[in-house]
Amino acid sequence: MNENINIGIIGYGYIASGVYSLLDKQKDYIAKKIGKKLNVTKVVEKDSGKLEPLKGRAGVSVSNNASDIIEDESIDIVVELVGGIVPAYDFVSKALANGKYVVTANKDLIANKGKKLFEVAEKNNVDILFEASVCGGIPIIGPLKSSLASNNIEKIVGIVNGTTNYILTRMEKDKLSFDEALKMAQDLGYAEKANPSSDIEGYDAACKLAILSSIAFNFRVVLEDVYREGITKITPDDIENAKELGYKIKLLAIGMEKDGEIIVKVHPALIPRGHILASIEDTYNAIYVYGNYVGQIMSYGRGAGDAPTASSIVGDIIKIARNYDRDKKGIIYGCTCFENKKIKAQDEDISKFYILIDVLDKPGVLAKIAKVFGDNSVSIKSMIQKQSAEGNIARLIFITHEVVNKNYYKSINEVAGLDEVIKVLNSIRVEDLE
Ligand code: HSE
Repeated sequence: MNENINIGIIGYGYIASGVYSLLDKQKDYIAKKIGKKLNVTKVVEKDSGKLEPLKGRAGVSVSNNASDIIEDESIDIVVELVGGIVPAYDFVSKALANGKYVVTANKDLIANKGKKLFEVAEKNNVDILFEASVCGGIPIIGPLKSSLASNNIEKIVGIVNGTTNYILTRMEKDKLSFDEALKMAQDLGYAEKANPSSDIEGYDAACKLAILSSIAFNFRVVLEDVYREGITKITPDDIENAKELGYKIKLLAIGMEKDGEIIVKVHPALIPRGHILASIEDTYNAIYVYGNYVGQIMSYGRGAGDAPTASSIVGDIIKIARNYDRDKKGIIYGCTCFENKKIKAQDEDISKFYILIDVLDKPGVLAKIAKVFGDNSVSIKSMIQKQSAEGNIARLIFITHEVVNKNYYKSINEVAGLDEVIKVLNSIRVEDLE
């Protein structure tokens, strides 16, 4: 009892100090629970200023050289919190090659280099755990790899980016423009000031979806496989129109298997206001999973922040520590991508669309637009006409039935080219979730 497990943390920023603080405050509680002591014995960080709070603390040494942890035989678990791919990939692969278990929150690393890292881990009979890489404090990777492992996962639908959810919530509740809501998110530290594109263009969500889909569908999905649209073109008008039609606009990450093909996409979508995902507001995240035995389940909580993310990281550390045997290491989950599947081309996928178009209000215009849609096999489900303040302009809102995307794209280009069409203002997908 009370075996010591030594932990080295590489990268000591906001999240890492949350991990250190959790392990410090909960040390006795965890030791009683698992019968082992989790000790952070080394912390490495390039920016020496960030290490100041640790200086003079008993039992922990600090440095600016990752090799001090990676090459240290006394370290059992390496926690990588550097972020990005370079140099994190190098640190993690070397740590695994040296027979250390790795825990990381690095979604870019797992979404882009997961396959190679799993190979190194397997070769060295250790593992890399990454619960915190998707939706901070929400347990989803562990459940998909263990409790839900017997299910064929049919579909995952998530609100996996807190920043965009916050922006869309403020746009709806406070009637703000996208730019105003983005500024609020930046002032609160949710979105990066210099370059918020990772969140607002959907890259962050796409990385998380690639990771989740790889596990759910037993097939390696990488970032480039994910179709991606951000939320920058959403306007208060779209949000208001969606409301009138009984929908809310959310940035969704959708992974599904259909006829042996995998569909992975991140895009804003109109979802029914009555669906539980429509109630996920502000910076909260939620992931809805459809399994063939479990049915529908949803995980909900905080997708970012130091304390929730530390909770997931330490959960992974505990998973490793519980069965840790220094002389006889072993793989916990390992890579679960054992199938070969195909990613469906976005053009061939099927969607429903909300379309907003300004047109000249004169006889025959609607018939012309309807003909273009009809000629391209785009079937209209409903249409509303609103009068513009300028008398001779009408605003048309269409909702389509399911259409093949390439037919839709062709039709909307043709519609935009009609003389009577002033502007196609927006096209947003509609997801009538079950
Ligand atoms: N920027 C992310 C979000 C958190 O807004 O959800 C880290 O992945």
